[in-house]
Amino acid sequence: MNTLAGKHLVLGLSGGIACYKAAELCRALVKAGASVQVVMTEAAEHFMTAVTMQALSGRAVYTSQWDAREANNMAHINLSREADAIVVAPASADFLAKLLHGRADDLLSLMCLARPIESVPLLVAPAMNREMWANPATQRNVAQLKVDGVHVLDVGQGDQACGETGDGRMLEAAEILEDLQAFFAPQLLAGKAVLVTAGPTYEAIDPVRGITNLSSGKMGFAIARAARQAGAEVTVIAGPVSLATPRGVRRIDVRSAQDMFNAVQAQVAQSQIFIATAAVADWRPDTQADQKIKKDGSGQTPQLAFIENPDILASVAQSDRAQNGALFCVGFAAESHDLLAHATAKRLRKQVPLLVGNIGPSTFGQDDNALLLVDAKGATELPRASKQDLADDLIAEIARRL
Ligand code: CTP
Repeated sequence: MNTLAGKHLVLGLSGGIACYKAAELCRALVKAGASVQVVMTEAAEHFMTAVTMQALSGRAVYTSQWDAREANNMAHINLSREADAIVVAPASADFLAKLLHGRADDLLSLMCLARPIESVPLLVAPAMNREMWANPATQRNVAQLKVDGVHVLDVGQGDQACGETGDGRMLEAAEILEDLQAFFAPQLLAGKAVLVTAGPTYEAIDPVRGITNLSSGKMGFAIARAARQAGAEVTVIAGPVSLATPRGVRRIDVRSAQDMFNAVQAQVAQSQIFIATAAVADWRPDTQADQKIKKDGSGQTPQLAFIENPDILASVAQSDRAQNGALFCVGFAAESHDLLAHATAKRLRKQVPLLVGNIGPSTFGQDDNALLLVDAKGATELPRASKQDLADDLIAEIARRL
C-alpha cells in the first residue's frame, strides 16, 4: 500500500557508510509521493554530500542548528513540527547512544529531542559494524529506545564495508520503504494470523518433466504483503515462483498440490484468515517415473493417466473452525468466461464466505488485474488496477467482513 503519498518526512543521516543507501531511500520516498526534508550530521557529510541529498529531495539540506535561514533561527523546532515522522537512516551506534541520553549537541539529535513525542514518531534504521551492533552497550541502548517509543527497524545481515560479515548492515532502501509504508498503513488486521497459498503447483511426470500452469504468484504475494502491512502475521505457502518474499512474511516453498495441502494442514490451525490464491493443479499423473522416460524409437507415446488432487480450499472451508466462524476463508476463481456465474457457483460449492473471481488468461503473469468479489449479498467489482492496489482493497474488504 502506498501510504506515503502526501506525507512529509524528515530524513536524518548520521555518519556511516550506509549513507549511500540514504540517497536511494530519499529518491524512493519522493517517488512514493512523500516530501522529504534532509537533515545531516557533520559525520554524515563525510560520507555523502548535502548537494546530492538536496538534488534528490528537491530541498536545501539542513546540517547545523545555527542555520540562519530560519527566521527565528530554530530549525530544530520548525522542521520537527511540520513532519509526519522523522526517519534516521543510517542511525550510527553513536547516534543511538546520543538519542538514548537525550543529548542535543547537533541539529539532528536536538530535533529528535525537541519533537512532539505524541504526534511525530521517530524511526531509526541502525547501521554499523557487527561487533558494534552486538556490543552490550548498543543492545542496551536499542532496548531502551524501544521502551522510550522509538521505532527501531531491523538490521540486515551479510557482508559489511569493513570486510567482516554479520548483523548490523542497514536495511536496503526498498526494505526501509516497505517498513515505512507498513508503519503508516491502517492496522486493519492487527493481531490476526493470515495464511495465503500462492502460485502454481508442479506435478511431476518423471524427474525432468511435469505439469504446471501459468500462475506467477504475483496476486498471492501482493495479498501477503498487503496483509502484513495491515498488521497481520502472514505465512505464504508458495508453489514454484520466482518472486521475492514480501518483508516480514514467512514463506514456505512447496512444489506439488499434495505438498501444498500438507503444508496448509500443518499451518492453518494457527490462522484466523485463509486466502487461497494458488492455481492448484486439479490432477496429477497417477504414477511418477523414477527415471526420465525415454523414447524407444517405436513412435509410441507414453500413456498418462491422472488422479485428482485434494481440494485444499474446500477441505479447509469444511473444517469445524471455518464452519463456526473462527477461520475466515477466501477463495479465488480463475475463469476464462462467464465470471459471475462460475464465481457464484464456486463460492457455494466450496462453502466460502467470500470468493474472488478473475479472468485467468488476462491476468496470469501480469502486474494488473480486475477482480469480482462474490459473497452472500451479491457481487462487487474491483476495476482493473495494479495487483498491489487490488490486494490492499481486498484486505480492506476482508477486514470489513470479519
Ligand atoms: N483450490 C484448492 N485446491 C485445489 C483446487 C483449487 O485449494 N485442488 C482453490 C484455489 O486456490 C482457488 C479455488 O480453489 O482458491 C478455486 O480454484 P479453481 O482452480 O478456479 O477451481 P476448481 O475447484 O479447480 O474448479 P474448476 O477447475 O472446475 O473451475
